[in-house]
Amino acid sequence: RLPQSFSMDGSAASTSSLVFPIYFSLIIPTFNERDSIEKMVAQLSQILDEVLPNDYELLIVDDNSPDRTWEYAQHLTDQYPNLQVMRRQQERGLSTAVIRGWQAARGEVVGVIDADLQHPPEVLLKLLEKIDRGADLAVASRHVEGGGVSSWSATRRILSRGAQLLGLMILPRVLSSVSDPMSGYFLVKRQAIAEIPLNPVGYKILLEVIGRGNIRQIAEVGYVFQEREVGESKVTWRQYKDYLHHLVRLRVDSGRLGHWGKQINFPVGRFIRFAFVGLSGLLVDMALLYFFYAILSFGLTRSAIFAGELAIVNNFLWNDRWTFKDLAQKQFGRQQTLKRFLKFNIICLMGLILKILLLNLLFNGFHLNAYLANFLAIAIVTVWNFWINLKLNWRV
Ligand code: GDD
Ligand code: MN
Repeated sequence: RLPQSFSMDGSAASTSSLVFPIYFSLIIPTFNERDSIEKMVAQLSQILDEVLPNDYELLIVDDNSPDRTWEYAQHLTDQYPNLQVMRRQQERGLSTAVIRGWQAARGEVVGVIDADLQHPPEVLLKLLEKIDRGADLAVASRHVEGGGVSSWSATRRILSRGAQLLGLMILPRVLSSVSDPMSGYFLVKRQAIAEIPLNPVGYKILLEVIGRGNIRQIAEVGYVFQEREVGESKVTWRQYKDYLHHLVRLRVDSGRLGHWGKQINFPVGRFIRFAFVGLSGLLVDMALLYFFYAILSFGLTRSAIFAGELAIVNNFLWNDRWTFKDLAQKQFGRQQTLKRFLKFNIICLMGLILKILLLNLLFNGFHLNAYLANFLAIAIVTVWNFWINLKLNWRV
């Protein structure tokens, strides 16, 4: 059985005047990568010998590969003194291998790279530079300038984007913190994850780092995901299942997560009430337009202004007495009510302007059907109106 969670040497990390023996530890997780490991180690050593001579270590974490990658890699340590090999016989899995590697690592900055040459080693220099300039986390990304995938099948592209979309729904803040949250190529300052129990499932260790870590500044570097030259990917349907499981676990833990893991608490019930009130306003507006225009024979513009303002009064009253009742009760006095009413008017007016701008953007810019564009514009403005009123007017 795997232990449930791992913590990086907390005792040492609790002293702030911590001195690390070396600057950088790079973990290379392997499973059946015998044919690429030598080239990988050679390229990485060449790059790192130049920028961080004797101030780095390469740590291969192999899960007892049937092709004996561990044994093969062990032979390389004579030639590459900064290389170490860890062979795990009890545990299996990419994320836990990475964490095991980090636990053994001595560097102030820790990182991970695939062993199969799909992550270009030279990108490491840019990642190190980002960390040097103050980033807590530097992620190699396929989705920023300079990034891409060499020749993925449509299916894999769709699966990859679909997974990202699903993640956005379950954990919006974590998934939108970087353009490539599925990346397995990144560096992180050890202090950002020290003392934090990491509890990953499956392949996507970066989600765990962003969600639970103590991370403020994130930087990204573009890279092109190379074709695999030798060996084969270990990705199967199992990885998608694990990924979903991981997302749900992080979501459940969201109260205990770090900066990026904290969820925006959207008051759903309140919003539904607000939307209903908006709908009632629409009916009031229509009925009064009929009344002023058709019955009293006012001009159309004048009728629309009267009807619109009375609909706003209707919405205000319902929102003040129902949607935001509890909040309204916390603000005393008639003057406060008047103030809220005036503010509500201004916010609605700005919403109207925003709606017209959005409608034009969606219609002319994105070439959407006019009615669809109108519907989307109304939906967006409703959320906007709600949020601004909640925060600035009824003040949650
Ligand atoms: N120790 C260990 N144990 N290593 C593993 C295991 C395992 O169970 N499974 C995979 N690895 C190693 C592989 O040997 C390789 O070095 C690296 O982890 C990535 O595995 P691949 O199977 O080659 O993954 P991929 O190419 O499909 O996916 C890569 O790209 C993703 C971006 O979509 C990985 O880098 C992912 O981390 C990355 O998110
Ligand atoms: Mn790969």
